[in-house]
Amino acid sequence: MPIESPSGPEVLIDGRSMVMLGSNNYLGLSQHPAVIAAAHAALDQYGTGCTGSRLLNGTLTLHRELESRLAQFMNKPAALVFTTGYQVNVGVVAALVGRNDILILDRADHASIVDGSRLAFGKTMRYPHSDMDALELILRTHAGKHGMLIVVDGVFSMEGDLAKLPEISRLARTYGARLMVDDAHGVGVLGEGGRGSVEHFDLLDDVDLVMGTFSKSFASTGGFIAGDEEVIYFIKHTARAFLFSASIPPASAAAALAALDVIESEPDRRRRLWANTHRMKSELTRLGFDTGHSETPIIPIIVGDDFRTAQLWKRVFDDGVFVNAAITPAVEPGHALLRTSYMATHDNSHLDRALSAMERAGKEFGLIS
Ligand SMILES: Cc1ncc(COP(=O)(O)O)c(C=O)c1O
Repeated sequence: MPIESPSGPEVLIDGRSMVMLGSNNYLGLSQHPAVIAAAHAALDQYGTGCTGSRLLNGTLTLHRELESRLAQFMNKPAALVFTTGYQVNVGVVAALVGRNDILILDRADHASIVDGSRLAFGKTMRYPHSDMDALELILRTHAGKHGMLIVVDGVFSMEGDLAKLPEISRLARTYGARLMVDDAHGVGVLGEGGRGSVEHFDLLDDVDLVMGTFSKSFASTGGFIAGDEEVIYFIKHTARAFLFSASIPPASAAAALAALDVIESEPDRRRRLWANTHRMKSELTRLGFDTGHSETPIIPIIVGDDFRTAQLWKRVFDDGVFVNAAITPAVEPGHALLRTSYMATHDNSHLDRALSAMERAGKEFGLIS
Protein backbone atom coordinates (compact mmCIF):
# COMPACT_ATOMS: atom_id res chain seq x y z
CA MET A 1 0.00 0.00 0.00
CA PRO A 2 1.35 3.43 -0.86
CA ILE A 3 2.46 5.88 1.82
CA GLU A 4 0.61 9.20 1.84
CA SER A 5 3.00 11.27 3.97
CA PRO A 6 6.73 12.00 4.37
CA SER A 7 8.71 8.94 5.43
CA GLY A 8 9.14 9.98 9.07
CA PRO A 9 8.95 7.96 12.29
CA GLU A 10 5.19 7.83 11.71
CA VAL A 11 3.51 7.61 8.29
CA LEU A 12 -0.01 7.78 6.89
CA ILE A 13 -1.25 4.74 4.99
CA ASP A 14 -4.85 4.62 3.78
CA GLY A 15 -5.55 7.57 6.08
CA ARG A 16 -4.22 5.68 9.13
CA SER A 17 -1.19 6.66 11.22
CA MET A 18 1.39 3.89 11.45
CA VAL A 19 4.73 3.60 13.26
CA MET A 20 7.41 3.33 10.59
CA LEU A 21 9.92 0.58 11.35
CA GLY A 22 10.64 -0.12 7.71
CA SER A 23 12.68 2.80 6.43
CA ASN A 24 16.41 3.36 6.08
CA ASN A 25 16.03 7.01 7.04
CA TYR A 26 18.25 6.29 10.04
CA LEU A 27 18.98 9.89 11.00
CA GLY A 28 15.55 11.23 10.00
CA LEU A 29 17.13 13.63 7.51
CA SER A 30 14.44 13.37 4.82
CA GLN A 31 12.52 15.91 6.91
CA HIS A 32 15.48 18.02 8.05
CA PRO A 33 14.81 21.69 7.15
CA ALA A 34 18.37 22.29 5.88
CA VAL A 35 18.25 19.22 3.63
CA ILE A 36 14.86 20.21 2.19
CA ALA A 37 16.02 23.81 1.69
CA ALA A 38 19.16 22.66 -0.15
CA ALA A 39 17.07 20.50 -2.51
CA HIS A 40 14.73 23.45 -3.19
CA ALA A 41 17.65 25.78 -3.88
CA ALA A 42 19.22 23.30 -6.33
CA LEU A 43 15.91 22.98 -8.18
CA ASP A 44 15.78 26.76 -8.52
CA GLN A 45 19.40 27.04 -9.60
CA TYR A 46 19.78 24.01 -11.91
CA GLY A 47 16.23 22.85 -12.78
CA THR A 48 14.86 19.34 -12.48
CA GLY A 49 17.44 17.19 -14.25
CA CYS A 50 20.73 17.13 -16.13
CA THR A 51 19.42 15.20 -19.17
CA GLY A 52 22.69 13.46 -19.80
CA SER A 53 25.53 11.25 -18.60
CA ARG A 54 28.28 12.58 -16.37
CA LEU A 55 30.91 12.30 -19.11
CA LEU A 56 28.77 14.24 -21.60
CA ASN A 57 26.56 17.11 -20.45
CA GLY A 58 25.65 15.76 -16.99
CA THR A 59 28.36 17.12 -14.69
CA LEU A 60 27.47 20.14 -12.56
CA THR A 61 29.74 22.05 -10.19
CA LEU A 62 27.42 20.55 -7.55
CA HIS A 63 28.51 16.99 -8.48
CA ARG A 64 32.16 17.97 -8.23
CA GLU A 65 31.63 19.64 -4.86
CA LEU A 66 29.78 16.58 -3.54
CA GLU A 67 32.59 14.28 -4.70
CA SER A 68 35.29 16.36 -3.14
CA ARG A 69 33.40 16.59 0.19
CA LEU A 70 32.76 12.83 0.21
CA ALA A 71 36.41 12.03 -0.48
CA GLN A 72 37.45 14.31 2.40
CA PHE A 73 34.82 12.80 4.70
CA MET A 74 35.81 9.21 3.92
CA ASN A 75 39.49 10.07 4.25
CA LYS A 76 40.23 8.90 0.70
CA PRO A 77 41.95 10.78 -2.14
CA ALA A 78 38.96 10.64 -4.50
CA ALA A 79 35.26 9.80 -4.79
CA LEU A 80 32.81 9.34 -7.64
CA VAL A 81 29.05 9.86 -7.45
CA PHE A 82 26.62 7.58 -9.31
CA THR A 83 22.87 7.98 -9.87
CA THR A 84 21.96 5.13 -7.49
CA GLY A 85 23.77 2.92 -5.00
CA TYR A 86 22.74 -0.08 -7.07
CA GLN A 87 24.60 1.36 -10.05
CA VAL A 88 27.75 1.91 -7.96
CA ASN A 89 28.01 -1.79 -7.19
CA VAL A 90 27.05 -3.02 -10.64
CA GLY A 91 29.36 -0.50 -12.32
CA VAL A 92 32.40 -0.83 -10.06
CA VAL A 93 32.38 -4.63 -9.80
CA ALA A 94 31.92 -5.12 -13.54
CA ALA A 95 34.63 -2.55 -14.32
CA LEU A 96 37.28 -3.87 -11.94
CA VAL A 97 36.99 -7.64 -12.29
CA GLY A 98 38.75 -8.53 -15.53
CA ARG A 99 38.96 -11.82 -17.38
CA ASN A 100 41.79 -13.30 -15.31
CA ASP A 101 40.53 -12.00 -11.96
CA ILE A 102 38.57 -13.61 -9.14
CA LEU A 103 35.73 -11.81 -7.42
CA ILE A 104 35.12 -13.07 -3.89
CA LEU A 105 31.72 -12.47 -2.27
CA ASP A 106 30.01 -13.26 1.01
CA ARG A 107 26.84 -15.27 0.32
CA ALA A 108 24.76 -12.60 2.06
CA ASP A 109 26.14 -9.71 -0.04
CA HIS A 110 23.60 -7.32 -1.51
CA ALA A 111 21.89 -8.21 -4.81
CA SER A 112 23.53 -5.25 -6.58
CA ILE A 113 26.97 -6.77 -5.96
CA VAL A 114 25.75 -10.12 -7.27
CA ASP A 115 24.34 -8.38 -10.36
CA GLY A 116 27.71 -6.68 -10.89
CA SER A 117 29.34 -10.12 -10.75
CA ARG A 118 27.04 -11.29 -13.56
CA LEU A 119 28.36 -8.52 -15.78
CA ALA A 120 32.02 -8.96 -14.82
CA PHE A 121 34.33 -11.00 -17.08
CA GLY A 122 36.16 -12.71 -14.19
CA LYS A 123 35.08 -15.68 -12.13
CA THR A 124 33.00 -15.27 -8.95
CA MET A 125 33.52 -17.37 -5.81
CA ARG A 126 31.15 -17.09 -2.85
CA TYR A 127 31.84 -18.15 0.72
CA PRO A 128 29.19 -19.00 3.37
CA HIS A 129 28.10 -15.96 5.34
CA SER A 130 30.97 -14.58 7.44
CA ASP A 131 32.88 -17.89 7.25
CA MET A 132 36.48 -16.75 7.51
CA ASP A 133 37.96 -20.22 7.01
CA ALA A 134 36.11 -20.56 3.71
CA LEU A 135 37.29 -17.10 2.65
CA GLU A 136 40.88 -17.98 3.50
CA LEU A 137 40.67 -21.22 1.51
CA ILE A 138 39.56 -19.32 -1.61
CA LEU A 139 42.30 -16.72 -1.13
CA ARG A 140 45.02 -19.33 -0.54
CA THR A 141 43.95 -21.31 -3.60
CA HIS A 142 44.12 -18.35 -5.97
CA ALA A 143 46.86 -16.17 -4.46
CA GLY A 144 49.57 -15.23 -6.92
CA LYS A 145 47.67 -16.71 -9.89
CA HIS A 146 44.85 -14.19 -10.24
CA GLY A 147 43.98 -10.65 -9.28
CA MET A 148 41.49 -10.95 -6.40
CA LEU A 149 38.81 -8.52 -5.24
CA ILE A 150 36.78 -9.16 -2.09
CA VAL A 151 33.49 -7.24 -1.95
CA VAL A 152 31.54 -7.38 1.29
CA ASP A 153 28.66 -5.53 2.93
CA GLY A 154 29.91 -3.64 6.00
CA VAL A 155 26.46 -4.01 7.56
CA PHE A 156 24.36 -6.86 6.21
CA SER A 157 21.12 -5.28 5.11
CA MET A 158 18.59 -7.89 6.25
CA GLU A 159 19.99 -9.16 9.55
CA GLY A 160 21.92 -6.06 10.66
CA ASP A 161 25.10 -7.95 11.57
CA LEU A 162 28.57 -6.54 10.84
CA ALA A 163 31.13 -8.01 8.47
CA LYS A 164 34.23 -9.30 10.24
CA LEU A 165 36.22 -6.51 8.65
CA PRO A 166 39.38 -6.74 10.79
CA GLU A 167 39.82 -10.40 9.77
CA ILE A 168 38.78 -9.84 6.16
CA SER A 169 41.21 -6.95 5.86
CA ARG A 170 44.03 -8.98 7.42
CA LEU A 171 43.35 -11.91 5.07
CA ALA A 172 43.19 -9.57 2.06
CA ARG A 173 46.61 -8.17 2.97
CA THR A 174 48.12 -11.60 3.65
CA TYR A 175 47.04 -13.01 0.27
CA GLY A 176 47.37 -9.86 -1.84
CA ALA A 177 43.66 -9.26 -2.50
CA ARG A 178 41.94 -5.88 -2.81
CA LEU A 179 38.99 -5.09 -0.52
CA MET A 180 35.82 -3.12 -1.27
CA VAL A 181 33.22 -2.51 1.44
CA ASP A 182 29.58 -1.76 0.59
CA ASP A 183 28.67 0.47 3.51
CA ALA A 184 25.15 1.43 2.42
CA HIS A 185 23.86 0.91 5.98
CA GLY A 186 27.02 1.94 7.80
CA VAL A 187 27.85 5.45 6.64
CA GLY A 188 26.07 8.02 8.84
CA VAL A 189 25.30 5.34 11.44
CA LEU A 190 28.54 3.73 12.65
CA GLY A 191 31.87 5.19 13.74
CA GLU A 192 32.69 8.19 15.90
CA GLY A 193 32.34 10.58 12.96
CA GLY A 194 29.63 8.60 11.07
CA ARG A 195 32.11 7.25 8.49
CA GLY A 196 30.63 3.80 8.80
CA SER A 197 31.76 0.27 9.57
CA VAL A 198 35.25 0.98 8.25
CA GLU A 199 35.69 3.78 10.78
CA HIS A 200 34.03 1.65 13.49
CA PHE A 201 36.82 -0.91 13.03
CA ASP A 202 39.50 1.77 12.56
CA LEU A 203 40.27 0.53 9.04
CA LEU A 204 39.86 3.71 6.98
CA ASP A 205 43.44 3.37 5.72
CA ASP A 206 43.26 -0.40 5.12
CA VAL A 207 40.16 -0.80 2.97
CA ASP A 208 40.81 -0.01 -0.72
CA LEU A 209 37.32 1.09 -1.74
CA VAL A 210 34.30 2.18 0.27
CA MET A 211 30.87 2.35 -1.31
CA GLY A 212 27.96 4.30 0.15
CA THR A 213 24.43 5.21 -0.88
CA PHE A 214 22.40 8.38 -0.47
CA SER A 215 19.16 6.41 -0.13
CA LYS A 216 19.55 5.68 3.57
CA SER A 217 21.19 8.03 6.11
CA PHE A 218 21.63 10.69 3.41
CA ALA A 219 17.84 10.76 2.82
CA SER A 220 18.14 11.18 -0.94
CA THR A 221 18.99 8.90 -3.82
CA GLY A 222 22.34 8.19 -5.47
CA GLY A 223 25.57 6.59 -4.33
CA PHE A 224 29.34 6.91 -4.26
CA ILE A 225 32.60 5.03 -4.35
CA ALA A 226 35.68 6.39 -2.57
CA GLY A 227 39.28 5.25 -2.98
CA ASP A 228 42.63 5.99 -4.58
CA GLU A 229 42.80 8.61 -7.32
CA GLU A 230 43.89 6.25 -10.11
CA VAL A 231 41.29 3.58 -9.26
CA ILE A 232 38.50 6.16 -9.18
CA TYR A 233 39.76 7.60 -12.48
CA PHE A 234 39.68 4.10 -14.01
CA ILE A 235 36.14 3.50 -12.74
CA LYS A 236 35.01 6.87 -14.04
CA HIS A 237 36.12 5.97 -17.54
CA THR A 238 35.10 2.30 -17.66
CA ALA A 239 32.06 1.67 -15.41
CA ARG A 240 29.18 1.31 -17.83
CA ALA A 241 26.55 1.98 -15.14
CA PHE A 242 28.25 5.39 -14.73
CA LEU A 243 28.94 6.10 -18.41
CA PHE A 244 25.61 5.12 -19.91
CA SER A 245 23.08 6.55 -17.48
CA ALA A 246 22.02 10.13 -16.76
CA SER A 247 23.62 11.81 -13.78
CA ILE A 248 22.02 12.18 -10.35
CA PRO A 249 19.46 15.05 -10.43
CA PRO A 250 20.56 18.36 -8.87
CA ALA A 251 18.01 18.31 -6.03
CA SER A 252 19.12 14.79 -5.01
CA ALA A 253 22.82 15.75 -5.11
CA ALA A 254 22.17 18.92 -3.10
CA ALA A 255 20.12 16.99 -0.52
CA ALA A 256 22.99 14.50 -0.14
CA LEU A 257 25.49 17.32 0.30
CA ALA A 258 23.33 19.00 2.95
CA ALA A 259 22.83 15.61 4.66
CA LEU A 260 26.61 15.23 4.79
CA ASP A 261 26.82 18.61 6.56
CA VAL A 262 24.28 17.39 9.13
CA ILE A 263 26.06 14.04 9.58
CA GLU A 264 29.20 16.02 10.41
CA SER A 265 27.63 18.76 12.52
CA GLU A 266 24.86 16.96 14.47
CA PRO A 267 26.43 13.90 16.12
CA ASP A 268 23.57 13.95 18.61
CA ARG A 269 21.33 12.37 15.96
CA ARG A 270 23.60 9.35 15.87
CA ARG A 271 23.48 9.18 19.66
CA ARG A 272 19.64 9.16 19.64
CA LEU A 273 19.59 6.52 16.90
CA TRP A 274 21.82 4.27 19.01
CA ALA A 275 19.77 4.87 22.18
CA ASN A 276 16.63 3.73 20.28
CA THR A 277 18.52 0.77 18.81
CA HIS A 278 19.81 -0.42 22.18
CA ARG A 279 16.36 -0.07 23.76
CA MET A 280 14.65 -2.09 21.00
CA LYS A 281 17.31 -4.79 20.86
CA SER A 282 17.09 -5.36 24.59
CA GLU A 283 13.24 -5.21 24.76
CA LEU A 284 12.73 -7.52 21.77
CA THR A 285 15.22 -9.99 23.23
CA ARG A 286 13.56 -9.75 26.66
CA LEU A 287 10.20 -10.58 25.03
CA GLY A 288 11.81 -13.72 23.65
CA PHE A 289 12.16 -12.88 19.94
CA ASP A 290 15.10 -14.29 18.00
CA THR A 291 16.92 -11.16 16.79
CA GLY A 292 19.90 -13.01 15.32
CA HIS A 293 23.31 -11.35 15.45
CA SER A 294 22.19 -7.78 14.85
CA GLU A 295 24.63 -5.11 16.05
CA THR A 296 23.08 -2.15 14.27
CA PRO A 297 19.75 -0.25 13.90
CA ILE A 298 18.57 -3.09 11.63
CA ILE A 299 17.01 -5.63 14.00
CA PRO A 300 15.44 -8.75 12.46
CA ILE A 301 12.72 -10.85 14.00
CA ILE A 302 13.61 -14.23 12.67
CA VAL A 303 10.65 -16.44 11.73
CA GLY A 304 11.93 -19.01 9.18
CA ASP A 305 9.03 -19.87 6.91
CA ASP A 306 8.08 -17.43 4.09
CA PHE A 307 4.30 -17.82 4.41
CA ARG A 308 4.26 -17.52 8.19
CA THR A 309 6.42 -14.41 7.91
CA ALA A 310 3.95 -12.84 5.47
CA GLN A 311 1.06 -13.62 7.86
CA LEU A 312 2.95 -12.13 10.80
CA TRP A 313 3.75 -9.04 8.72
CA LYS A 314 0.02 -8.58 8.03
CA ARG A 315 -0.87 -9.01 11.71
CA VAL A 316 1.64 -6.34 12.77
CA PHE A 317 0.57 -4.08 9.90
CA ASP A 318 -3.11 -4.34 10.93
CA ASP A 319 -2.00 -3.33 14.42
CA GLY A 320 -0.47 -0.09 13.11
CA VAL A 321 3.21 -0.92 12.62
CA PHE A 322 4.99 -0.88 9.26
CA VAL A 323 7.88 -3.35 9.01
CA ASN A 324 9.40 -5.14 6.01
CA ALA A 325 8.95 -8.85 5.40
CA ALA A 326 12.16 -10.38 4.01
CA ILE A 327 11.41 -13.65 2.28
CA THR A 328 13.30 -15.59 -0.42
CA PRO A 329 15.18 -14.47 -2.53
CA ALA A 330 16.01 -11.51 -0.23
CA VAL A 331 17.14 -14.12 2.34
CA GLU A 332 18.17 -17.76 2.04
CA PRO A 333 15.24 -20.26 1.99
CA GLY A 334 14.08 -21.03 5.55
CA HIS A 335 15.51 -17.78 6.94
CA ALA A 336 12.53 -15.46 6.40
CA LEU A 337 12.26 -12.59 8.84
CA LEU A 338 10.58 -9.32 9.68
CA ARG A 339 13.15 -6.59 9.18
CA THR A 340 12.72 -3.74 11.64
CA SER A 341 14.91 -0.64 11.53
CA TYR A 342 15.12 2.41 13.74
CA MET A 343 15.51 6.14 13.40
CA ALA A 344 16.96 8.97 15.47
CA THR A 345 13.53 10.59 15.32
CA HIS A 346 11.52 7.75 16.88
CA ASP A 347 10.42 8.74 20.37
CA ASN A 348 9.55 6.38 23.20
CA SER A 349 5.83 6.48 22.41
CA HIS A 350 6.51 5.18 18.86
CA LEU A 351 8.69 2.41 20.25
CA ASP A 352 6.12 1.52 22.95
CA ARG A 353 3.39 1.17 20.32
CA ALA A 354 5.64 -1.02 18.17
CA LEU A 355 6.62 -3.25 21.08
CA SER A 356 2.99 -3.81 22.13
CA ALA A 357 1.98 -4.75 18.59
CA MET A 358 4.91 -7.12 18.20
CA GLU A 359 4.32 -8.73 21.57
CA ARG A 360 0.64 -9.38 20.68
CA ALA A 361 1.52 -10.79 17.24
CA GLY A 362 4.49 -12.80 18.56
CA LYS A 363 2.27 -14.52 21.15
CA GLU A 364 -0.52 -15.23 18.64
CA PHE A 365 1.99 -16.85 16.27
CA GLY A 366 3.74 -18.79 19.02
CA LEU A 367 7.07 -17.07 18.41
CA ILE A 368 7.20 -15.97 22.04
CA SER A 369 5.36 -17.16 25.08
C1 LIG B 1 23.79 -3.17 1.12
C2 LIG B 1 23.18 -2.39 -0.01
N1 LIG B 1 23.93 -2.08 -1.08
C3 LIG B 1 23.44 -1.38 -2.12
C4 LIG B 1 22.13 -0.95 -2.13
C5 LIG B 1 21.61 -0.22 -3.32
O1 LIG B 1 21.44 1.12 -2.99
P1 LIG B 1 20.33 2.07 -3.63
O2 LIG B 1 19.01 1.65 -3.08
O3 LIG B 1 20.77 3.41 -3.13
O4 LIG B 1 20.39 1.95 -5.10
C6 LIG B 1 21.31 -1.23 -1.03
C7 LIG B 1 19.92 -0.76 -0.98
O5 LIG B 1 18.98 -1.45 -1.14
C8 LIG B 1 21.84 -1.98 0.05
O6 LIG B 1 21.09 -2.30 1.09
